[in-house]
Amino acid sequence: MLSYRHSFHAGNFADVLKHIVQVEIIDYFTQKDKVFDYIDTHSGAGLFNLSSEHANKTGEYLNGIGKLKQADFPELSRYFAAIDAHNVKPLTPNASAAGNLEYYPGSPVIAQQFLRHDDKAWLFELHPTDFDLLSENIRQSRRVRVKQGDGFQGLMSVIPPVSRRAFVLIDPPYEIKTDYQKVFTTVAKAHKKFASGTYAIWYPVVDRHRIDKLEKSFINSGIRDIQRFELGLSADTEGRGMTSSGMIVINPPWTLMKKMNELLPKLVKALDENKAAFYKSDILVAE
Ligand SMILES: C[S@@+](CC[C@H](N)C(=O)[O-])C[C@H]1O[C@@H](n2cnc3c(N)ncnc32)[C@H](O)[C@@H]1O
Repeated sequence: MLSYRHSFHAGNFADVLKHIVQVEIIDYFTQKDKVFDYIDTHSGAGLFNLSSEHANKTGEYLNGIGKLKQADFPELSRYFAAIDAHNVKPLTPNASAAGNLEYYPGSPVIAQQFLRHDDKAWLFELHPTDFDLLSENIRQSRRVRVKQGDGFQGLMSVIPPVSRRAFVLIDPPYEIKTDYQKVFTTVAKAHKKFASGTYAIWYPVVDRHRIDKLEKSFINSGIRDIQRFELGLSADTEGRGMTSSGMIVINPPWTLMKKMNELLPKLVKALDENKAAFYKSDILVAE
């Protein structure tokens, strides 16, 4: 029984980091005049109403996108444009996004905005309600496909893509604790089948030991060129919910580390409430 619904969490500090990394990678892919495939293993509903009962119950977006001002982040103009595209009133550059935003786009809808005419997208979602919402929120075509099913299996069924270029976003809810292991085994298998793909894996820090284990699995896997970016709002405290979250990126664009090194200290400053926020940016395995 799936109970996780991303509508409670859309636009929170974890989404901000995840979608910034996503936009940076897609931007890099679209700079080359060669088509690519975007594969989203855990797509979610695609678009989230921030005045919904779910979003208001947690108010999580207020501590994420709600705190950012466009004017402070000129380097994030593409990310902000992706959000503006789904709001009748564009964000005011000098005001924080809190209170100004009606909708926050999820990863598949953000991706669709950047895809060019011949790029392809494979969007997997297991939850029946979110699958139906995603089907409404995405313009489907022969090149953009929404599938209801397990994204781990879905990934294996579409690689290697004909284009031989792909960006794979893996963003499970980790509601089932075996997801931590599954993420690693699936990516290791996928990498054997398609070693040149760019894989971005999101992780939450609820229990740091699990993440240390996940990190070690990747470091010892034999896979090369792995970077990690993390943004935390408070120190690790087991059992009190998510305090931090990160992205592990295999075969990152060569531009990503520099960009994130400049951005993460600024994001920490903007999102910090208790003077406890921190970031990590490191190479887990060199090229
Ligand atoms: C964290 S949310 C995804 C958010 C989305 N990627 C975004 O950034 O907007 C995780 C989603 O995975 C879905 N899900 C859970 N298990 C899945 C599976 N095995 N395969 C595909 N989707 C799954 C959940 O229903 C949920 O919508």
